[in-house]
Amino acid sequence: MDGHRDNPFRRFTELAHRYGPVYAMTMGTTPCVIVNDYPSIKEVLITNGSKFGGRPDFSRYNVLFAGDRNNSLALCDWSWLQETRRKIARMYCSPKVCSSNYGLLDSIASDELDVFLKSLAAVTDRGAEREVQVKQPLLMACANMFVRFMCSTQFEYGDPEFQTMVRTFDEIFWDINQGYAVDFLPWLRPFYAGHMRKLSSWSSHIRRYMMDKVVARRSSYATAVAAAMDGGGYDENDEQEPTDFTDALLMSLRKDPRLSMDHVLFELEDFIGGHSAVGNMVMLALSMVATRPHVARAIRDEAERVTGGQRLVRLYDKPDMPYTEATLFETLRVVSSPIVPHVATEDTTIKGFKIPKGTCIILNNYEINTSPAYWDDPEVFDPNRFIHHKSGEKPCIRKPEYFLPFSTGKRTCIGQQLVSGFGFVLLAGVLQKYEVKATAQMAIPEARLALPPDTYPLILKPLDGSP
Ligand code: HEM
Repeated sequence: MDGHRDNPFRRFTELAHRYGPVYAMTMGTTPCVIVNDYPSIKEVLITNGSKFGGRPDFSRYNVLFAGDRNNSLALCDWSWLQETRRKIARMYCSPKVCSSNYGLLDSIASDELDVFLKSLAAVTDRGAEREVQVKQPLLMACANMFVRFMCSTQFEYGDPEFQTMVRTFDEIFWDINQGYAVDFLPWLRPFYAGHMRKLSSWSSHIRRYMMDKVVARRSSYATAVAAAMDGGGYDENDEQEPTDFTDALLMSLRKDPRLSMDHVLFELEDFIGGHSAVGNMVMLALSMVATRPHVARAIRDEAERVTGGQRLVRLYDKPDMPYTEATLFETLRVVSSPIVPHVATEDTTIKGFKIPKGTCIILNNYEINTSPAYWDDPEVFDPNRFIHHKSGEKPCIRKPEYFLPFSTGKRTCIGQQLVSGFGFVLLAGVLQKYEVKATAQMAIPEARLALPPDTYPLILKPLDGSP
């Protein structure tokens, strides 16, 4: 792997050409199997998915979650707790289009888009190009969309504590997306003592913030604490509909005595942290568009057709704007964010090869996303590859089954609907208002969704006559 730190997946692909699509490799002290083609990836995630539900036991993961990665939704092993947590989250993370939660998502996305665009207007001038640090306000917009939807609260972009919280989440997102030698060589840990201290302080900072600014201020928190002091117990008579995700989590404490306040706090934190992924993705989509004005024009034309140029795009417009949604998918294809490694939870097989329990499975979706075996002209950024045209019907999104930016199977991403909803509104909204151009510093990473916390600015020029 020497010399492939920036994109280990490219090296995995080279090795697949030599050894075949499934091969073993011991990384440091960790036995790994690298899986490089769609049929084998499908076997790991779906056909034989029940045997690959574990996650690797990297020390960084434990440090980030108060000493136990099982506190995290994405980094824990499969268990009753994970099943329960996923169930509580489903209603809020994947609301049906006709549900009241979807209506709430729509109005929150539009309100927050307004706030975000005003923050950009404050640092740009009509008729002039300006270099703008877009990522920071973009992350704050995403954070507010998440806390408004999940916790019914919101923060001012100028609030220094909010800024620090957003920055800390982004630092963690960046770190989780890195690979470190200590992940595979645990005896190196003493050399990483400073780094581990930093991770631990970031995570305790976030826990304190979420408790002080969000959870402890709610009446349902007081009720949950009082119930715990009374010895808990579920009384159907005093059951009410949860007002939001935080409420639903706090109420679950009474319904399931196996859950603790820590479980609730960690789950909330994990979901709020999802905003960093959305912010980084929209930043990357804007970067792709910045060097491809024809894509920006096509998104603007689509928005103009749907809104008549009279208003900003909203979430309910998504089914009528496949090109804009496809631009997000094409961004995810090109950047190829890795799937979190899985671990075999029992002795099993892949393609007939023996896989001992405890083997770390690395899924090379970079190969699937960039290989000519799966895509025409994979090096070309072309959102049209995700659009299906059928005569007499309006064009719609069609994703090939081997396109897995959110993975699939029992550990598939829970946040994908929030990603495509909030991401869609933000991308379209910025392009309705601004021409976006690249700066010389712009550098798009390979095989990762995370940009460094301090990243390149973009050039924004307000458009005449925008809504
Ligand atoms: C562009 C943004 C995002 C991408 C590309 C993405 C992608 C992924 C991928 C590839 C996985 C691993 C699935 C597996 O191991 O098989 C995952 C897991 C997960 N994602 Fe996302 N995600 C994004 C945003 C979000 C957001 C916004 C949330 C929360 C609201 C979220 C919540 C989760 C959770 C909880 C898991 C763990 C599921 C489990 O292990 O059971 N993700 N995501």
